[in-house]
Amino acid sequence: MIGRRVVPVLAAALALNLPAGVASAAEPTPELVARGKYVFATAGGCACHTPPDGVGLNTGGTKFELFIGVVYARNITPDPETGIGKWTDGQLTNAIRRGERPDGSKLFPIHPYKYLGNIADDELEALVAYLRSVKPIKSTVPARSLKIPVPSLTIPTAQKTAPREGLARGAYLAGGAGHCTECHTPRRFDFSPDDAKFLAGGPGPQGSLAANITPHVETGIGRWTEAQIARFLRTGVKPSGQEASSLMKTVIAGTSAGFKDLTEADAVAIARYLKTVPAIEHKVR
Ligand code: HEC
Repeated sequence: MIGRRVVPVLAAALALNLPAGVASAAEPTPELVARGKYVFATAGGCACHTPPDGVGLNTGGTKFELFIGVVYARNITPDPETGIGKWTDGQLTNAIRRGERPDGSKLFPIHPYKYLGNIADDELEALVAYLRSVKPIKSTVPARSLKIPVPSLTIPTAQKTAPREGLARGAYLAGGAGHCTECHTPRRFDFSPDDAKFLAGGPGPQGSLAANITPHVETGIGRWTEAQIARFLRTGVKPSGQEASSLMKTVIAGTSAGFKDLTEADAVAIARYLKTVPAIEHKVR
């Protein structure tokens, strides 16, 4: 009996180029996939990869017209030809965290690896399982054209396990999967984030204008309570009654999941963290 069970596992391990006996060749449990879907929600449903006029979840194609060229969000469905179906877990992890593709090329950091690199091992494993669980869809994305080399960024070293609660959890989500920092920190001419204006807003991708979300009273969200910030993340409604617009609306609504699916505790943790960052006077609009 034992022999019968070992053979398929060995075959699966060989197919994935893994040394025999490596546990990750096993089918992910539904529980792991569900946890991964929640990580996907905390990333705003990786919404850049599902344009509203696209052919389906995660099929890519969103066009980013930058002054240094044009890039397109890629197909990250499990389709073997046009998506990530043939990639190993390690290759997928490297692309998400470090922007390294299996062919050795580097992703342009519009893919927010400076932040996604912070996703802890346990949550990334779940996210990878979720990405593999969705429908494979064949869809070819146009090649990018860049006038500058892909800049090198310092990639953080991820923790093994994600913080579970409190301020640490809030900081982890905002500077990791949630990539609030990515959109809300303006960039310098070479595309690197201008950390002197950390979370102080400014022009962002797709012609967006991200708000100042530091606790500055006049130009930021200093007047919002933690509960109001948390409510906004889960509903898209501001204390003024106004609705979220632009890319913020996109990440709140998400795709198969988004910020709207954040647990109350996680939304409050992010809000609490935002209250602790330095207030920066920066009028965005
Ligand atoms: C994909 C880009 C993007 C991401 C990711 C993103 N935001 Fe935003 N956010 C925006 C844009 C653009 C606006 C301006 C649109 C608006 O005010 O409705 C905005 C508006 C806001 C506002 C409203 C502020 C105001 O004064 O009206 C808050 C609060 C906010 N974001 C918090 C966050 C937090 C917290 C995160 C991470 C959990 C986050 N955002 C992630 C792009 C983004």
